Amino acid sequence: MKTIGVLTSGGDAPGMNAVVRSVVRSAIALGMNVKGIRRGYNGLIEGDIIDMNIRSVSEIIHRGGTILFTARSPEFKTEEGIKKAVETCHREGIEGIVVIGGDGSFRGGRDLSLHGIPCVCVPGTIDNDISSTEYTIGFDTAMNTAMEMVDKLRDTTQSHERCSVVEVMGRHAGWIALETGIAVGATSILVPEVEYDLQRDIIDKINRTKATGKKHFIIIVAEGVGKVTELAKEIEEITGVETRATILGHVQRGGSPTLRDRLFASLMGHEAVKLLSQGIGNRVIAYREEKIVNYDIYEALQMVKPFDIEAYNIANEISI
Ligand code: ADP
Ligand code: F6P
Repeated sequence: MKTIGVLTSGGDAPGMNAVVRSVVRSAIALGMNVKGIRRGYNGLIEGDIIDMNIRSVSEIIHRGGTILFTARSPEFKTEEGIKKAVETCHREGIEGIVVIGGDGSFRGGRDLSLHGIPCVCVPGTIDNDISSTEYTIGFDTAMNTAMEMVDKLRDTTQSHERCSVVEVMGRHAGWIALETGIAVGATSILVPEVEYDLQRDIIDKINRTKATGKKHFIIIVAEGVGKVTELAKEIEEITGVETRATILGHVQRGGSPTLRDRLFASLMGHEAVKLLSQGIGNRVIAYREEKIVNYDIYEALQMVKPFDIEAYNIANEISI
């Protein structure tokens, strides 16, 4: 391939810029040209494309967000949208694309590959909810942000001897809640993957730990479980412990990526370019058993990633 494109799609994640940097520099090192496609698949449909060179990705390895902007593109899900995207590729001489995003974006990469534009997808989402990979770029940064904020919240929760119910991101997945919950020593962790019982999993635990001297309580709730305001009211009414709800929200999607995210971004971006340079498309990059590997997109989308119930049970056991 002489020219490849790179785009970021779906929800942004810290580390996406570091992938863009790696893709641009790896491709140029292999003698290819790189075009930046802006605003996800919308940029392909509308021809919002810029030339990239080794200096256009200077000073971005440490920056959150994405310099290419991102979007959700309903039009790209239509046959007409894909056709326009393919026409743009032909016009711009784009022969392959690195897609950075979640599994929705991967579906787009599969469709484009089937229409003759080979795509290699790199997992970028804070949720860590992509089945084919044990790690997604942005997860570590998002959790560290959530952990730091809960640490701050703990100070005021402790001073007032209150209970804090904290919602972290994860519409369909409890990974951020699980690992952040463990890291902050939460009394209870609620995730969409595990059904909970208010009495058993929260009220009884607060009462039990209160009886042994605990004076403040942190409950971490994944966004997919929701209703934190109502939950806080219920807890206060039943236990008599003053309770506040806090939704951490989109702040978890921002900030300078951690070392782990910069590292994965750099290695995965390089691997994606390597595949495209060999004419290989329709693949996703993944992290499995401490190795960077790749899979067919369709197979990757069929994979199942079981929730780490063992870690969830350990969290419960030690939050006494
Ligand atoms: P994420 O990539 O973070 O999972 P989305 O699910 O919103 O985010 O997907 C991002 C974009 O990928 C969508 O706006 C759309 O353009 C494209 N996409 C999503 N699902 C499909 C699909 N089934 N077929 C083709 N393209 C899709
Ligand atoms: O997929 C990442 C994520 O941040 C989810 O955790 C969250 O549910 C969603 O995106 C929020 O999306 P939006 O940016 O559309 O509010």
